[in-house]
Amino acid sequence: MFKGVLFDLDGVITDTAEFHYRAWKKLGEEIGISIDRNFNEQLKGVSREDSLTLLLAYGKKENDFSNEEFAALAKRKNEYYLEMIQEITPTDVFPGIVPLLTELKKAGIKIALASASKNGPLLLDKMQLTDYFDAIADPSKVASGKPAPDIFLLAAKEIGFEATDCLGIEDAKAGIQAIIASGAYPVGVGRKEDLGEDIPIVADTSSLTLDYLQHVWRKDV
Ligand code: BG6
Ligand code: MG
Repeated sequence: MFKGVLFDLDGVITDTAEFHYRAWKKLGEEIGISIDRNFNEQLKGVSREDSLTLLLAYGKKENDFSNEEFAALAKRKNEYYLEMIQEITPTDVFPGIVPLLTELKKAGIKIALASASKNGPLLLDKMQLTDYFDAIADPSKVASGKPAPDIFLLAAKEIGFEATDCLGIEDAKAGIQAIIASGAYPVGVGRKEDLGEDIPIVADTSSLTLDYLQHVWRKDV
């Protein structure tokens, strides 16, 4: 059985994936790049800088900005995002997440955050979830962002296990790829069309119980 669970944050613990989308959309409009939810699937799970690179390439503006301007755009997007998440409270935690964290703790299973977001600690704090986490992997400490496995490998290491002893939960294609590359076992939250046919997927977090995770662990679907 798995010894640790590695959680993505945005789109798994709360609906901040929506705020990331709205912040990128707002920034995009200001620089003449119009994005939709379909394109946004590519940004999910991807670091701030990598997301901006993808956005500029999508708008064919990858050569339009200096390094300083690029950094200023990334900063501006984060300012929009920070404004949007100010009002987040414990009531914004997705259904089933607190019961799952409670069950995992009771069962002695370690819990780690493996989010690409530098705003992860702030958000856990706002939702009063920090105490459930045995480790929060710092995305600024890894060489490559999702879909590379680095953040999941670091999260597993920080709770004292190999990634192969852990299960990872993700709502993004890049995140599922990262979990698989790390050797952890993936569980998706979302749609098979976006995440893949060959892994266990729940439509929403209310189905994420310890019983469900134990049931799907290392079983082919
Ligand atoms: C991921 C989100 O969790 O974090 C991405 O899915 C986001 O959309 C990335 O770009 C980085 O987040 P932040 O808060 O550091 O800009
Ligand atoms: Mg996510």
